[in-house]
Amino acid sequence: MDIFKIEGPVRLSGSIEISGSKNAALPIMAATILTGGKSVIEGVPDLADIKVLANLLGTLGADVSRAGNGDLEIDTTVIDNPVGEYDIVRKMRASICILGPLLGRCGRAEVSMPGGCAIGDRPVDIHVRGLRELGAEIHLENGIMIAKAPNGLKGKRIFLGGPFGSTVLGTANIMMAATLAKGTTTIESAACEPEITDLAGFLNKMGAKITGIGSPRLTIEGVDSLTPTRYRVIGDRIEAGTFMVAAAITSGKLELTNCCLDDMVAVIDVLENIGVVIEPAESGCIVTRDGGRKAADLTTQPYPGFPTDLQAQVMALLALADGNSVITEKIFPDRFMHVAELNRMAANLRKEGPCVIIAGVEKLVAAPVMASDLRASAALVLAALAAEGTTMINRVYHIDRGYERIERKLNAVGAKITRQSI
Ligand code: EPU
Repeated sequence: MDIFKIEGPVRLSGSIEISGSKNAALPIMAATILTGGKSVIEGVPDLADIKVLANLLGTLGADVSRAGNGDLEIDTTVIDNPVGEYDIVRKMRASICILGPLLGRCGRAEVSMPGGCAIGDRPVDIHVRGLRELGAEIHLENGIMIAKAPNGLKGKRIFLGGPFGSTVLGTANIMMAATLAKGTTTIESAACEPEITDLAGFLNKMGAKITGIGSPRLTIEGVDSLTPTRYRVIGDRIEAGTFMVAAAITSGKLELTNCCLDDMVAVIDVLENIGVVIEPAESGCIVTRDGGRKAADLTTQPYPGFPTDLQAQVMALLALADGNSVITEKIFPDRFMHVAELNRMAANLRKEGPCVIIAGVEKLVAAPVMASDLRASAALVLAALAAEGTTMINRVYHIDRGYERIERKLNAVGAKITRQSI
């Protein structure tokens, strides 16, 4: 098990290239199931979660490898075991996104029901509802979802909204399954996240007929077959947002490349309210701070609202603001495992239901802390960059799930992070 030893405070300065998006790459990898042959996906980050899905695709019968230039090659000529085993699915909830493509291609699938995780219960009822609407028969047996579509899937108008709004991977699953269904599917209350737009772009490049991309109404005209293709995934807006906060919390100056500001309007709005300056630059931006650190309130929402995946990181920044802020979590109301850990570093945070009240403090102080989930761990790294002393972060495997070589990227711009195996 690795730990991070982070010396602070530091002032970051330099340029960071943003990696390809994990959350775009995962469903795109799953979408290759829909066709037979070799697809090449460029810009797929080298992350633990990507390895889990590559492994899972391998157990289905696909051949997944990295080319010398880093491209991910997925040969899906053979998909002869449409079974998502518990031992793999339990490692990563996003494994659920093989369900729709397996049903589309094989007419059957068995996927272990993913459990909850540190950020909440994370049900999959909407995925199941949507696939049933397309004609699949799905039942649960010993913790395994057994899905069949003996007569193929049939297009339909489907409402996919849930108690917390749209669902990202639910939309991905139904959209993928619908590409090979008979007739036309309309998804109402579809997720509009850029990662869904990217997946739709990939599917259309394979020959799917999807319109309304980027809107809450997606129309998918079923086709007989899809063909393998080559595609580059978008830059990771959550990694970019994390490094924007890194520049702000260290009063530094960072250039971020391969970062699309158009996908980050809500994030930029909140950061600008705090006093962060984000100037567009060639293929990205330059991030600095204008002196003060103002308090700000924010509410997480489905895209184009403020993303839940940046809530913890911005909380670390607001912990050092002048005044009181309130963060309201409207996607995963229990996603606050970082609160107690940030308080160990002398932050003043109080959780009240789905809200956290943040009384800004003048400084954070190093402490041994525990990473609990991916984004919470990122928040601890950010806090440690600004804190006085040496912070030890345990269980950094959480951060390796979603940030590519974070310590190398940050050390190259002035951080002092050492990874130690214990
Ligand atoms: N929900 C249901 N029923 C469902 C599905 C979702 O009630 O069948 C609820 C969830 O419990 C949650 C809300 O709907 O309250 C939204 O969840 P969503 O389905 O959109 O989440 P997801 O698709 O499972 C993806 C990302 C998450 C990100 C969320 C929200 C991937 C691989 N994962 O998860 O990313 O937080 O969307 O934007 O794309 C991360 O990268 O750290 C991460 C957790």
